Amino acid sequence: MSDGLEGVVAAETVLSEVDGEAGRLVVRGYPIGALSGHITSEEATHLLLDGFFPDLPDAKALATALGRARVEVFAEVAALDDRLLAHGTIEGVRALMARLADGDDLAIALRLIAAPAVFTPAVSRRKQGLDAIAPDPKLGHAADVLRMIKGHAATPAEVAALNAYLVTVCDHGLNASTFAARVVASTLAGLTSAAVAGISALKGPLHGGAPGPVIEMLDSIGTPENAKAWLEAALDRGDRLMGFGHRVYRVRDPRADALKRAVRTLGEGSNSLPGRLAFAEAVETAALAVLKERKPNRSLQTNVELYTALMLEALAFPPDAFTCVFAIGRVAGWVAHAREQVEGGRLIRPQSIYIGPKPLAAA
Ligand code: ACO
Repeated sequence: MSDGLEGVVAAETVLSEVDGEAGRLVVRGYPIGALSGHITSEEATHLLLDGFFPDLPDAKALATALGRARVEVFAEVAALDDRLLAHGTIEGVRALMARLADGDDLAIALRLIAAPAVFTPAVSRRKQGLDAIAPDPKLGHAADVLRMIKGHAATPAEVAALNAYLVTVCDHGLNASTFAARVVASTLAGLTSAAVAGISALKGPLHGGAPGPVIEMLDSIGTPENAKAWLEAALDRGDRLMGFGHRVYRVRDPRADALKRAVRTLGEGSNSLPGRLAFAEAVETAALAVLKERKPNRSLQTNVELYTALMLEALAFPPDAFTCVFAIGRVAGWVAHAREQVEGGRLIRPQSIYIGPKPLAAA
């Protein structure tokens, strides 16, 4: 048995390849560094969906259709009530996604891909006592997300930064949320069921829930001089350092560098961001040294979440919404994997070894 299915191959995919030894991520033939900062989130969506829907239009028409889908799903925001708003932002987004019709066609897929982009700003604003802002279908996906959360238009630099983030995280092999989505898709339950499984798996702090705690860690450390002692004390308590370690990567996660570049570019017009970035780099250096000393048998390197946290903080997303912003980018990957699973895969149904009590003898 493989604990945590480590090393188990559970699917063939044309979507992305994660090479954990080389520290390389390839999405549909492109190294992630060639996509992040170079294409929009809609273009990444087109890249992922290409070949999985017979009626998929070209990238420009897909962007227009996605704008229309944002408007369509906004109607669900009316279902937000006090009970949902009392939960975390991701629980609110998940509940609204679960209201969408299930099925396997392109219209369903586009509404699902639009859903976290529309619901994240809406839930986040409603939790702060503000009105939800309706989508503007004429804007690009990233620009509209930023406008809906901020309440005013974002700068071109902010739009470029969010596009870089969304593209960087759009797909990543058989990570936990994508696997969850594929398991559900393999039962022929439909794309909505698969995406709701994906966002549920993403929520956990060992997967997409890490960047919020990264900000708490940085704020609690406070100054570079404090980093080593703080990090050692955390490991003494048995805590994990958020933003470090990965199941597959034994070297640095290539997405960390892509995002660090994007944060640096965004910081060119800012007074405070370069200082925050330098501080995070100092904490990163200290954390890698402490992890090397304390866990010599495991190569624990920086993962995507450290610079995700910095990026989303710089774009003024509330930390409670960080995982939902991850979902805005990853949902296209879940949908593409779900379609791939339905088209080429079988029902996913592994086995377990029974270690409970033996059957009682009949009296
Ligand atoms: N901090 C401290 N120790 C760690 C960390 C960490 N971040 N990550 C792993 N370890 C240690 C474990 O304590 C364990 O040590 P031990 O052998 O002395 O008990 C050893 O490394 C192996 O740990 P596993 O849990 O078996 O490793 P796994 O491959 O399952 O872990 C994971 C991967 C869950 C991401 C882990 O590194 C972790 O918890 N990281 C922190 C959370 C995080 O950043 N998550 C985001 C991941 S990226 C993404 O999903 C988008």
